[in-house]
Amino acid sequence: MKDFLSILDFATEEIWEIFELADRLKYDASKPLAGKTVAMIFQKPSLRTRVSFEAGVVQLGGHPVCLSQESIGLGKRESVADVARVLSRYNDLIVARVFEHDDLIEMARHASVPVINALSDLSHPCQVLADAYTMRQRGKLFEGAKVVFVGDGNNVANSWLELAARLPIHFVLASPKGYAPNAELLRIATSSGVGKVEIVHNPQAAVWDADVVYGDVWTSMGQEAESETRKRDFASYQINADLMRYAKPDAIFMHCLPARRGEEVTDEVIDSPQSVVFDQAENRLHVQKAIMAKLVEQHYAPAFSPTPKAKNRKKR
Ligand code: CP
Ligand code: NVA
Repeated sequence: MKDFLSILDFATEEIWEIFELADRLKYDASKPLAGKTVAMIFQKPSLRTRVSFEAGVVQLGGHPVCLSQESIGLGKRESVADVARVLSRYNDLIVARVFEHDDLIEMARHASVPVINALSDLSHPCQVLADAYTMRQRGKLFEGAKVVFVGDGNNVANSWLELAARLPIHFVLASPKGYAPNAELLRIATSSGVGKVEIVHNPQAAVWDADVVYGDVWTSMGQEAESETRKRDFASYQINADLMRYAKPDAIFMHCLPARRGEEVTDEVIDSPQSVVFDQAENRLHVQKAIMAKLVEQHYAPAFSPTPKAKNRKKR
């Protein structure tokens, strides 16, 4: 595997390796990106992804080169393929946040260096891998753990489907009719024989007995024109204290952030002791460092070997 465009790009065992590597890189002084540069393309706004990748690259000894859509005109000033070819001549990794997932596929096809998906209209794999790491940290990543995503069947929900095809979680999407997730990812997750997946329309029934209640904005970046319609369609899907009462008493609340406080989640929930949203944000850094170290190890070879050997790994 060269690229990380989807959680499906990793086998189950590799996901556990990423988590162990993320644990290790918090304290490890090794610099797997020493002398390397990472091109980072952002077609959309970003706080967490941009800063956690930029900080992570520096902490691993590399140098990030941040490129906005205004500066490079991906697909406008120059074709995606040519941008990928050129960036591959200067850089050792490409991290890209794009509107169209097909542009990521095109970039990976023409880049000779690994490409990492930093969010597209289809998926947000770095986010959900870091979320699974946060669940593990909180003792919530166990077989059958019930994760209820209340909201839009969009990019973040789609990456939960990818995760359910790799780890044995029970993933429930509670979304209004007309806001279904990607049909192909739903098919892959439901036929994987790994996790259990349900799509329901009643948020209270969905949240019943949940270990994790997860929120995302009702209107994602690029959908601003639909904002008023979405506010109406999602009005009964707000994650508030009443809804949280249907979950297990020790359930955690998760949100990828940014949050629209007062819309998809209330202050009393996001600021409650059950909320782990800032741990999730921090874990973007640790998990993405592990992803970069692993891709660099695989692609550029074995001067540095970050992946612990199976026999030496601690029992989970
Ligand atoms: N969660 C997340 O990806 O945040 P940003 O859009 O701020 O990067
Ligand atoms: N679904 C949101 C996620 C932001 C991290 C969006 O695409 O805007």
